[in-house]
Amino acid sequence: MRKPIIAGNWKMFKTRDEALFFILKVFPLVPEIDKVDTVICAQAPLLHCLVKRQGDNLRIGAQNLYSEDEGAFTGEVSGKLLNSYKVEYVIIGHSERRTYFHETDAIVNAKLKAALRNNLKPIVCVGEHLEEREQGLTNQVLSRQIEGCFKDIEASSVLGVTIAYEPIWAIGTGKTATKETAEEACAYIRSLIKDAYGERVSEKVRIQYGGSVKPQNIKELMSMPNIDGALIGGASLDADAFVMMANAAIND
Ligand code: PGA
Repeated sequence: MRKPIIAGNWKMFKTRDEALFFILKVFPLVPEIDKVDTVICAQAPLLHCLVKRQGDNLRIGAQNLYSEDEGAFTGEVSGKLLNSYKVEYVIIGHSERRTYFHETDAIVNAKLKAALRNNLKPIVCVGEHLEEREQGLTNQVLSRQIEGCFKDIEASSVLGVTIAYEPIWAIGTGKTATKETAEEACAYIRSLIKDAYGERVSEKVRIQYGGSVKPQNIKELMSMPNIDGALIGGASLDADAFVMMANAAIND
């Protein structure tokens, strides 16, 4: 059995006070660590104060990192620094980074290596555009992304990676993929991991769905065999909604 993982992606929202209020409220209410991994991914300057308050069952993640561990890269944040602050998770290759900051699969691959080198737990995002889906290219896009993002990554490292299937047409649009559509894509991603790394790894790696997940739809998405969790944007900003979703993810 794979343990569910519920991660909130706060994107560029919340001030320091708002973030602290959220964490203090949510911390006693999320499920125990043996039932669900619960993560909040916040803007970089918030990480230090949030990490100090993280408990066993509510972990903190970054939304990005740079591919080098140090150097003259003004404005970037290294995995080495994140690790020194005891940040545990990091989102890599979110579609907003791919779209607005031109991140390619090769860049995602370099960042994934940096995260693993610095003992961070990566959440690697993949997913197709609406036009690609409409043209029947979803599997082709997912194959290309998985191959590019995981180039030269060892099987032992893949076990610690969470993959987030986030169809771009479902992100922030209120348009959730049906549980069947999400399951089909997650199952396909698992089959790609099986082809590349074998059955043992593919059965262990966790695959989340992301895109307009909310308290009303999380249970049905989580009921699908290949969906092991959710990466949640908008709905994760609300403490009550986040607690509800974390609890809804517990395996029955
Ligand atoms: P959303 O965002 O839940 O607001 O659609 C998901 C994400 O961007 O990870």
